[in-house]
Amino acid sequence: MLEIATMGNGILTQKALRVEKIDASVASFIADMFESMRAHRGLGLAAPQVGRSERMFIASIDGDGPRAFINPEIVFTSPEEVVLEEGCLSIPGLYKKVRRPEFVKVQAWNERGRRFNLEAEGLLARVILHEFDHLNGILFVDRLLPAAKRRALEEYEKKLRI
Ligand code: NI
Repeated sequence: MLEIATMGNGILTQKALRVEKIDASVASFIADMFESMRAHRGLGLAAPQVGRSERMFIASIDGDGPRAFINPEIVFTSPEEVVLEEGCLSIPGLYKKVRRPEFVKVQAWNERGRRFNLEAEGLLARVILHEFDHLNGILFVDRLLPAAKRRALEEYEKKLRI
């Protein structure tokens, strides 16, 4: 099982590097990520969260199935935004409403080295945008307004002390 880095670990604020080669070791790492994500009942997981500062993440949404995104690029986000509650395996126990685009177009490679385009809305769009942020060292609390972020961090600190 891969260990999940929690907020405060420097890897979560780094910009991840491009995956140079999609080979068997990448495919096997992605398989390990899926296993860890399922064990933690997550909807998505990014490589930096499990100690590898490289541009890849996974998502698994009911009705869509498991997907890996390697070297993803967000090519379009809708001007329409929605507010949805988010959590993160790296900030366990904290859930906050976050405003993000409703619709997204993404290009990426899968774990078999095949390039694909995907249009997503709803929960899948939300997970893609959240996980993509991880590749740029951004956590969902960073998407809150400053006062809300401060309150969220205080709440999380309190949870840690219990
Ligand atoms: Ni997260």
